[in-house]
Amino acid sequence: MSTNNKINASITGVGMYVPEKILDNAYFESIVNTNSEWIVSRTGIRERRIIENGATSDLATGALKDLMEKHNLQADEIDVIIVATVTPDMFFPATACLVQDNIKAKNAWGFDLSAACSGFLFAFQTGCSLIESGRYKKVVVIGADKMSAISDYTDRNTCILFGDAASAVLLEPTFDTSIGFQDSLLHIDGQGKDVLYMKGGGSLNPATHETVDKKMHYIYQDGKPVFKAAVVGMADISFEVMQKNNLTGDDIAYLVPHQANLRIIDATAKRMGIGNDKVMINIDKYGNTTAATIPLCLTEYYRDGKLKKGDKLILSAFGAGYTWGATYLVWGMD
Ligand code: UT7
Repeated sequence: MSTNNKINASITGVGMYVPEKILDNAYFESIVNTNSEWIVSRTGIRERRIIENGATSDLATGALKDLMEKHNLQADEIDVIIVATVTPDMFFPATACLVQDNIKAKNAWGFDLSAACSGFLFAFQTGCSLIESGRYKKVVVIGADKMSAISDYTDRNTCILFGDAASAVLLEPTFDTSIGFQDSLLHIDGQGKDVLYMKGGGSLNPATHETVDKKMHYIYQDGKPVFKAAVVGMADISFEVMQKNNLTGDDIAYLVPHQANLRIIDATAKRMGIGNDKVMINIDKYGNTTAATIPLCLTEYYRDGKLKKGDKLILSAFGAGYTWGATYLVWGMD
C-alpha cells in the first residue's frame, strides 16, 4: 500500500437503474425507414430501454437507491449529490435537489452538471476533487439521462441511437494512493455547437409554437462530423492519459468508453493498443444513454465479477459541446 498525507478518492459503491421497457431494432423498422442490419453494423446497438412513466430524477433516484441497498449507505451519510445530465426534469430546481428529496438525504448539498456524453467524467473529476479537498467524506456522482424525452421518433438519423438509464457511484477518501482516481484530461471546444445540439427551450430560443413546429426541442445531430471528431478526440485523449502515466496497453485491465458507437470504441481501443477483450461494452443492450453509459459499464462489470481491486482502468468519453476527456482510475473494491 502506498501512503502519504495525500487523500485519494476511490469508488466504494455502485448502482444502476434501467427501465423495463425495451425498444429493439425491429420496433424502429416499424416506425422509420431503417433496418436492423444497418443499425447493428453502423452503431452496434440492438436494444435500448425507455422509461414510460417518470423523469430523469426517477432514473437517478433508482440508481442511487440500488447503490444504497447494495452498499449499506444511509441517506443522511451523503455529503454531496452531483447529477450529470442533459435531460434534467426541469431547468430548475436542479435534478440533484429532486433526488435529494426522494431519498431524504438531509445533510447533502449538490448540483447538476451539463457536459452531455462527457458528463460523467466531468462530474467524476469534480466529485474526486471534493473528496481530495478533505472537506467531504461521501460524494455521490450520478450519470442520468432520459434521452427519449428529447428524441424525435420520426428522425431515423437520431432516434435509433439513444436510450434512458442512470447509474451512480459513491466516492470516499482513502490514504492508499495506489487506488482510486489517479489522473484525468478534460476538454471543451464550443466549435462543436453547430453539429450536435437541442436549440429550443433555452434563453436563446424560448419555447413558442414556432419552436415546437420547427422541432427545436429535439436532439439535432450531423452524424458524420461528430463521428470524425469523436474518433480522433476519444482515441487521442485516451492515449495521452496513458502516456502521461507511463502506461502501456498491457497495464490496462479495461478501457471503459462512452457508448455512442461501436466503431468509435474500436478505434479508441486500437489506438491504445488494447484488445477487444479488455473493452467494456453494453451499447448493444442500452444504446447511447449519454451521461449514464460509463458508470453503467462499471456497475455491470463489477457485479459480474469482472473487476478486481488494483485493476487499472481508462474511462473515456466524447460528446456534445464538444466535450471530451479520459480518466485514469485504479479500481479499489474487492
Ligand atoms: O454521443 C455523443 C456523440 N455522438 C456520437 O459520437 C455519434 C457520432 N456519429 C455516429 O455515430 C454516426 O455518424 C451515426 C451512427 C449517427 C451515423 O452513421 P454514419 O456511418 O455516419 O452514417 P451517415 O450519417 O453518413 O449516413 C449514411 C447513410 C445516409 O444515407 P445517404 O445520404 O448515404 O443516402 C443516411 O441517410 O445512412 C442513412 N441513414 C440511415 N439508414 C438506415 C442514417 N440513419 C439511418 C438509419 N437507417 N437509422
